[in-house]
Amino acid sequence: MASDVIFEPLNFRNLTVKNRIFRSNTYGNFNDPDGIGTPERIAWEEKFARGGVGAILSSVVPVANTGRMAPNCPTLHEDDRIPFWQKVAETVHHYDCKYIVQLSYGGSHLGLLSSQLTPDGIQEIIQDFADAARRSREAGLDGVEIDATSGGTGQFIADLTESRTKPPVNLIAQFLRGDVNPRTDDYGQSLENRCRFLIEVVKAIRQQVGDDFHLQIKIEGGENLEEDIQIAQNLEIAGADALHAGSKVPQSQRSLTDFPLDIQGPHINATQRLKQAVNIPVLCTGGFQTASYIRHAIAGGYCDGVTIARALIANSNLVNQFAQGDDSPERPCSYCEKCRINLVDNPLGCYDVTRYDGNYGEMIREMMSVYLHPGK
Ligand SMILES: Cc1cc2nc3c(=O)[nH]c(=O)nc-3n(C[C@H](O)[C@H](O)[C@H](O)COP(=O)(O)O)c2cc1C
Ligand code: SF4
Repeated sequence: MASDVIFEPLNFRNLTVKNRIFRSNTYGNFNDPDGIGTPERIAWEEKFARGGVGAILSSVVPVANTGRMAPNCPTLHEDDRIPFWQKVAETVHHYDCKYIVQLSYGGSHLGLLSSQLTPDGIQEIIQDFADAARRSREAGLDGVEIDATSGGTGQFIADLTESRTKPPVNLIAQFLRGDVNPRTDDYGQSLENRCRFLIEVVKAIRQQVGDDFHLQIKIEGGENLEEDIQIAQNLEIAGADALHAGSKVPQSQRSLTDFPLDIQGPHINATQRLKQAVNIPVLCTGGFQTASYIRHAIAGGYCDGVTIARALIANSNLVNQFAQGDDSPERPCSYCEKCRINLVDNPLGCYDVTRYDGNYGEMIREMMSVYLHPGK
């Protein structure tokens, strides 16, 4: 039988992943309010490792207490967080799955705007990223991802209820975007200046962890593609090993309230443009659910691997199903967005009761399985 591109290992400069499917970043309400990780969080991550993904990208992980993006985010802002992340690494490594932690800094929802930061304040946050990367390495995790995207669940909910005038929650995106960065110093105006904060974060991480630890950046790659291409090239020069392209909330052709959305690979064309502009592997997020379409994206040169959030929330065993020859899951994700709408107040999981033939009890049992893991 001809080899399947999905199951070819992906070789990054500093990391090899056994196949081309990554669990994309999924924030969930699993952790303690003080940012300490819980056994439920580990059980959540284990589900996807067991289901066959090559690597897992964590949810947003704030690098400082002041940069918390959402309630109950597990943090990496102190050395006492290292043992929790060590357990995460050991758990997923048991399945030959890698774990990449998404280092993040939120702000605007708490009143922190990039425009208010002093040069010293900027340097402190850059150091927070570098320290968190050092802790990631010490915990035995396989790499870090810097979150430089604009959107997110907070933004998604705001978009449904408010006008799109607010600056993004993500501090790095606040610097990057010309429409919300009013600075007139070395960190504002030209693209080179708006990129400076992110590039300094990359360089500080490299200085702290060395040249042989995997470092990738999640970037939008869409609304302002020409700028994103330049940002991608700057990141490669600064020492990035890979890019992860696409927005956190992929846009559908339909309106955001017209569920289910008709999403399939909305970012692959933009990702291909990014890929053509750099010499490092590029992952693409958004709307991947069938093996045939994933093969098309990789073999067609649009990206080197795909990252999946919702289709895996619905079917954590998806990659094992592909390995058995299935093209799509029996009960696919409908992209109804109910997981995202529920995630701040309720356990993360699939809330489309039609996928459970209307059996609400079965849906809740599946959701709560993470809380009833062995050993509890
Ligand atoms: C419930 C949920 C939580 C998410 N949390 C994060 C996050 O913490 N960080 C991030 O960069 N993206 C986050 N995303 C975006 C996903 O990682 C992914 O990029 C996006 O949903 C597109 O992939 P999909 O179409 O396979 O869902 C989240 C998405 C969902 C549905
Ligand atoms: S709630 Fe909807 S979008 Fe989320 S995993 Fe289930 S079917 Fe997919």
